[in-house]
Amino acid sequence: MDFDHPPADPIAQARLWFKEAEGTNLPNPNAMTLATIDADGRPSARIVLLRGFDERGAVFFSNRESRKGGGLAAHPRAALLFHWDPLDRQIRIEGAVSHTGDEESDAYFAGRPRESRINAWASSQSRPVASRAALEEMQRSMAARFEGVEVPRPPHWGGYRVALERIEFWHGDPYRLHDRVVYTPQGSGTWSVQRLCP
Ligand SMILES: Cc1cc2nc3c(=O)[nH]c(=O)nc-3n(C[C@H](O)[C@H](O)[C@H](O)COP(=O)(O)O)c2cc1C
Repeated sequence: MDFDHPPADPIAQARLWFKEAEGTNLPNPNAMTLATIDADGRPSARIVLLRGFDERGAVFFSNRESRKGGGLAAHPRAALLFHWDPLDRQIRIEGAVSHTGDEESDAYFAGRPRESRINAWASSQSRPVASRAALEEMQRSMAARFEGVEVPRPPHWGGYRVALERIEFWHGDPYRLHDRVVYTPQGSGTWSVQRLCP
């Protein structure tokens, strides 16, 4: 990426970096940190996997009754962070968060392995559980409930889309004079772009 003459379209640029991250030996090149705040304004962060990316935003899937789900219900805004150490790159995305539509959530859920679909029912994500045995018992009971039938998407499970209100590209310099550019949307698919001091 030429940081002095950055491309006009950050979406195409991000896709290029996602693709180059896939070419590394990282086991989860689509892993990103998702930062949210809860109802009291307290921040929390965790890793999720990027499952979709286009002009509408960056998509991940989760349990909407989880801790992150509660935070996003109270404050539907998030920050996403990708860091690819072997490439000395990071991308930061910030924006408003919305639910993906039922069809999109259903389509993604249907493509998951049957075991993962059962486990989406079995796990009350972020809630206390007494032991591994208790977790496995919930899994067995859900496996029995859905024996011989398709496992539908749980109503509390689905996608989130983070709008692209700010996208920053960062490339490391060995002596800390890193390159950074930040894009903000200007409407009708155009972007303003600004180089930043490291
Ligand atoms: C590599 C990796 C990928 C993960 N992908 C997801 C994901 O796509 N969705 C998800 O809900 N949790 C994912 N997790 C688990 C989350 O980091 C987190 O533990 C979980 O979502 C509960 O977070 P919460 O209690 O803040 O809601 C992943 C964890 C790791 C380490």
